[in-house]
Amino acid sequence: MSGAKNAVLPIMASSLLAEGPVEIANVPRLRDIDTFGTLLGLMGAKVKREETGNPGDVELHIDARGARKAEAPYDMVKTMRASVLVLGPLVARYGMARISLPGGCAIGARPIDQHLKGLSLLGAETKLSEGYIEARADRLTGATIPFDMKTVTGTENLMMAATLAKGTTRLINAAREPEVCDLALALRGMGADIEGEGTDEIVVRGVSSLSGVRHEVMGDRIEAATLLLAGAITGGDVTAEGADAEAMAAVLEKLGESGADVSLLPGGVRVRRNGQIRPVNLATSPYPGFPTDVQAQFMAYMCLCEGQSTIQETIFENRFMHVAELRRMGARIDISGSTATVKGVPRLSGAPCMATDLRASASLVLAGLAANGTTEILRIYHLDRGYEMLERKLSSLGADIARVQE
Ligand code: EPU
Repeated sequence: MSGAKNAVLPIMASSLLAEGPVEIANVPRLRDIDTFGTLLGLMGAKVKREETGNPGDVELHIDARGARKAEAPYDMVKTMRASVLVLGPLVARYGMARISLPGGCAIGARPIDQHLKGLSLLGAETKLSEGYIEARADRLTGATIPFDMKTVTGTENLMMAATLAKGTTRLINAAREPEVCDLALALRGMGADIEGEGTDEIVVRGVSSLSGVRHEVMGDRIEAATLLLAGAITGGDVTAEGADAEAMAAVLEKLGESGADVSLLPGGVRVRRNGQIRPVNLATSPYPGFPTDVQAQFMAYMCLCEGQSTIQETIFENRFMHVAELRRMGARIDISGSTATVKGVPRLSGAPCMATDLRASASLVLAGLAANGTTEILRIYHLDRGYEMLERKLSSLGADIARVQE
């Protein structure tokens, strides 16, 4: 298993807070991580990548002490919304930030109003000018920040900003995702005073400076879930070594309901399936609920269930783009508002199809593994944003899959 993309990105952003080098270990080779490194480089940080060639052996060494340009330009933000994670650290450390306002993206509108509300409560002045958010503050001051909804990067941005604020910050209705906890761990290693991560309320007591740190990133629970689903959809037997069963509990519960045999091993999680796929109803929700980042992959699995399953997407309003492609492979799926009704079919048939976003691409790969005939997936650059060598990992499990073009 690779390191978690969504843990690495905020930890890379946190290097802007540190008065020393930040070393991040267990970094996956992914396009989004390269893009984030380029963004930090544009700001003047030194980003060095050390690798031996094996998965899990990439380390990033980031020294942001020379960073001077507190700006995330449109060209970067438009390719990667997570660029917004530099906002909190920049205002906290340099007193100002200029970040291109992200627009909509393939999976929905995704505004950042909660990030901005939080920064204002911490005392920053924010304004929108020429498509850019400009935020300024001499020194941020601790405050109570009630989030109107759970937001992962919003929680991360404000947790980072609060580490250098004067006084205590309370993040109420904070996101509880394991990646938020991994960031808190890295920040604590830098000397931050943080409590309560993993619960609804995070308390951050500001300190005057943070040091460098060495941090090994948590494993990718979404990648693990995708590989276990690859086993389940093909009637196989897959062990995700190093997978954290607790971080994946909601997915494992639904896999169990579907008739797969889930066993928790000392060093990982094993999923086997022999019998029919039983239909499962689920709704995505913030952690510890069923992750939106596994919804598309689970839907591919449900396409082959015996009966009818309903899948509701409650986090993003437009995260069903895989449906049209799955239908081309013979799936029977109806969408009504935020709910997809999947009527199982005995077989899917291979077809050429188009990846539309990261997790949608993974769902097409899973469907293709189980389908009769050959499936050709175009635009796999979406896949490379968030999965490290997925085709190699699947081949090693016995899948007949090849990358025919970059
Ligand atoms: N939202 C607002 N206002 C805000 C912030 C969020 O309305 O200020 C809404 C969003 O539009 C969305 C919901 O709140 O409807 C939740 O969004 P959230 O902010 O939690 O999403 P995010 O932080 O932008 C992260 C992951 C996503 C993952 C979501 C949900 C990173 C870099 N990205 O996005 O990962 O789907 O949390 O768990 O951590 C992926 O890896 O494929 C991916 C999209």
